[in-house]
Amino acid sequence: MSTLHDEIQRRRTFAIISHPDAGKTTLTEKLLWFGGAIQMAGAVRARKAGKHATSDWMELEKQRGISVTSSVMQFPYRDCIINLLDTPGHDDFSEDTYRTLTAVDSAVMVIDSVNGVEAQTIKLLNVCRMRDTPIVTFVNKLDREGKAPIDLLDEIESVLGMQCAPVTWPIGMGKTFRGVYHLVNDTIAFFDPHAEKGTSEMIQGIDNPRLDELIGHQAAELRMDIELVRGASHTFDKEAYLSGKQTPVFFGSAVNNFGVQSLLDAVVDLSPTPLSRKTVTREVTPDEPKFTGFVFKIQANMDPKHRDRIAFVRVCSGKFERGMKLKHVAVDKQIAVNNAITFMAQDRNTTDEAYAGDIIGIPNHGTIKLGDTFTEGEDLKFTGIPSFAPEHFRRARLKNPLKMKQLQKGLQQLAEEGASQLFRPLASNDLILGAVGTLQFDVVAHRLEFEYGVDVAFESFDCSTARWLRGSDADLKSIADKYGYNVALDGAEDYVYLAPNRVNLAMAQERYPDIQFLETREIS
Ligand code: G4P
Repeated sequence: MSTLHDEIQRRRTFAIISHPDAGKTTLTEKLLWFGGAIQMAGAVRARKAGKHATSDWMELEKQRGISVTSSVMQFPYRDCIINLLDTPGHDDFSEDTYRTLTAVDSAVMVIDSVNGVEAQTIKLLNVCRMRDTPIVTFVNKLDREGKAPIDLLDEIESVLGMQCAPVTWPIGMGKTFRGVYHLVNDTIAFFDPHAEKGTSEMIQGIDNPRLDELIGHQAAELRMDIELVRGASHTFDKEAYLSGKQTPVFFGSAVNNFGVQSLLDAVVDLSPTPLSRKTVTREVTPDEPKFTGFVFKIQANMDPKHRDRIAFVRVCSGKFERGMKLKHVAVDKQIAVNNAITFMAQDRNTTDEAYAGDIIGIPNHGTIKLGDTFTEGEDLKFTGIPSFAPEHFRRARLKNPLKMKQLQKGLQQLAEEGASQLFRPLASNDLILGAVGTLQFDVVAHRLEFEYGVDVAFESFDCSTARWLRGSDADLKSIADKYGYNVALDGAEDYVYLAPNRVNLAMAQERYPDIQFLETREIS
């Protein structure tokens, strides 16, 4: 019988991060396929929401439903249990993505070999860096004429500030792409887009004459390249990887299945087992026998008639068993959890048991909030689930003034779910929404209409950024008196400064040197 420790050591929980179109959906699908979790290529692709979701409400609705089942995918691979967490794949950016990254132990970063390091990759990486999340890099689309591999590594090092340790090295690219050399195992995998798993043959040893037979003059080039690469780049250092300072790099072509299995093997072999998590009072280690977990995502269910929501809980320690009584620390209540859900690649099953590293979904009617902790009795509060300073703002204007109550309730609930942030300036009755990505506003408008029956228009609001305020009561009162139109309360009744522009923000900061203006706020 496997022990708690064995079960936890088997878990690998990670997310894929990338700029849109780099190949995240394709790679996800191929990972599931290599993991034996789906039979057929195309299954995930078919579920990928349309790229024009912004203008298509049905699509949005579908997308929300779909993401309930596809936002966590669990599957066995070798002797491990893999939990792959999806980060929403809109062209737009959302806070959900950020929060999902708080629930993983590592990440795979996909870089498009043609485009190199792109804007959203940088943003996502900065989030990973907040927790020193270890990152494995997959350079995709080697079947296209892209940037020189050495330039790509330079770009990753200089733009993302991480050492690169190539583990595989490509042989040619585009039309002359022949495969990859594995620098650690000294093996060569040959690329064949027509072979079932993208690989036609594997050979051992860079001096193997079979290499010359198969790729002619490219063999000599490869030997030279590898000498240079070994001299000029970092060798893989597990400690440096685990502390987020170095990223092992793999090359491949997801759409052709090539390089995907080495990547999956790397996740199993290199990526950390479930990590310890901090709480306000102490650090929780995964091997502790008692269950603990926190909510990193809330998803409204498909059926708008039933306002049920699923709270996604990252199990941080111990074991979950069906029917278990858990303490919902925020409201100091015990609940018997009989209907938790495990998310498999294509199905949702009732969870019988889950271990640290796994994600379970707890259905509820709005009582569970983002950041909430569940335990077997201890009063714990996990830290590090951030709210980010929004970059986009809108004022909500009701089309039917009689629906004010529904609007307030809807906005409050959607804010609790994390769909957008809500701010109420002290000196006006405005309801201001803040978001990290503008698609969030479309989602909120759509859901207000369909779930709360409120028809709302969003007007522009003169604000460029927000800062959470921390300071003495006297200082906060003073800034609130002076700047009542700029100081607002957020959904959790915290003070926030809504700055129309950077100059205004700098002036307010200068005038109140004892107040901290924070860019992120931990959900409490
Ligand atoms: P995303 O989730 O990161 O947004 O990317 P996605 O997987 O949807 O891939 C974006 C495009 O890149 C897709 O093409 C996909 O087929 C292509 N792609 C993925 N991996 C590779 C690769 O290794 N080589 C090449 N050449 N292309 C790759 P699309 O035209 O947008 O979609 P589709 O028509 O193929 O469905």
